[in-house]
Order: sequence, then structure tokens, then C-alpha cells
Amino acid sequence: MKLDPRERLIVALDVPSVAEAEALVARLGETVSFYKIGYALAFAGGIDFARALAGAGKGIFLDLKLHDIGHTVARGVESVARLGASFLTVHGYPQTMHAAVDARAGSDLRLLAVTVLTSYDDADLAAAGYDFTVTELARERAAQAHDIGMDGLVCAGEEVAALRSIVGAGMLLVTPGIRPAGADSFDQKRVMTPAAAIAAGADHLVVGRPIIAAADPRAAADAIVAEIAAATREG
Ligand code: C5P
Repeated sequence: MKLDPRERLIVALDVPSVAEAEALVARLGETVSFYKIGYALAFAGGIDFARALAGAGKGIFLDLKLHDIGHTVARGVESVARLGASFLTVHGYPQTMHAAVDARAGSDLRLLAVTVLTSYDDADLAAAGYDFTVTELARERAAQAHDIGMDGLVCAGEEVAALRSIVGAGMLLVTPGIRPAGADSFDQKRVMTPAAAIAAGADHLVVGRPIIAAADPRAAADAIVAEIAAATREG
């Protein structure tokens, strides 16, 4: 997929207020063209902010990880499509994905399935009652997402190559848990460098703390875009 390196970087605006988000977006300037808004900001005025950013030409990834009865998921997806968001996550349960795919018909919204959260390892899955390893569950849900007509998957870098072989070239693979070499992994258990994730076949990288908690967020973002560009040239 031919994308500008900057479009491949999605910065997670994991801050608790619109004022902080506005300040970050202003500091990041033209370096960043795509933002992810998750729980912290969404529940603090972030939906109106998302609408404004989309109106200003930025790509918006609403990471709301929807999961509810099909009717409720469908109405939520319709509202998100009207807002102008580019990406929305839903959990990779078949009923949820079917409802979401039907509801976004005719819009530009792309739906990403969350297979297994990148903070989970096999022990976390067992504690949640699953009789699957992370690898097994992620692959099963990827195949279901593909068959149901989802547009892409959120997946850890280490899963990209295997999932690509399951879902083919047509699905977007969006990878969080990205850490430049030497960066703090915080609570992520499955991390990869930007270059390695692109080389493995990821389409977009989601980066939060390595940029938003950096002393100079724009320099951190510039360095990651440069690493993506180099990895894209090599690929
Ligand atoms: O700060 P950090 O780079 O770890 O942020 C990663 C972002 O990606 C967070 O907003 C997190 O919620 C999100 N995410 C994730 N793993 C997933 C799906 C989303 O880390 N499977």
C-alpha cells in the first residue's frame, strides 16, 4: 500500500483534556496528520474536538473499542461515521463485527477489529477465562474479521507477518506497542520498533507515550516518521 510516511504515523492523544490535546496538536504541527482519540479524551470533550480536527483535514482514529448488543453497536457506528472519523475500533467478536460492518455501509469510515489487546499475554488471557493463547485467539479473530468484511485489524508488531498471511493484502494492519530502540516500554508487553513493524508489513503505527511524553514531542515524531520513511524505502 503506497502511503506517505507521515500518514502511516498515528499519534495517540492519550491526554485527559481538550486543552492539553490542542497544545500537543499545535506543537506537532505538520509532522502529524493522523490522531487517535481514546477513552481519556473522548470522555472529556474529545468527540467535539475529533470533529474539529477532522474538519481541519486531520485523519481521526476513534479508539472506542465498541462491544455491545448488535443494535447498540450499529447506532454507535452510524454516529461515528457522521462525525467524519476515518477509523473506529470494535472488539473482534463476530456479532459485534457483523453489526458494525452493516452500519457503516455507504460511509468512508473504516472499521478495525481489536484481536487481542497488546497489554495481554497468555496468562492474562487465561485469567480472563480464555482457553486460547494470544497467538491462537488473534489468528482466529483475524480470520473472522476478514470473512465478515472488516477493513483492518489492530495487532501487535510481532503478529503482523502471520496475520498478513491470513487476511491478505486488502486489510489494514494498524500496530500499537511501538517503541523506538531504547525507549521505555511502559506497560506494553509486546513491543516493536517502527522500522521493524513497517518491515513486517504494518500499514499504520500507533504511537502514544514515546511522542506525547517526550521532552520534545515534535522531534520524537519527526524521528519516527524518518524511521518509517527509511523502512518503507528498504521494503
Ligand atoms: O503510549 P503507547 O504508545 O503505549 O500507546 C498505545 C496506544 O494504543 C494506547 O492509546 C492504547 O490504548 C492503544 N492500543 C494498544 N493496544 C491495542 C489497541 C490499542 O496499545 N491492542
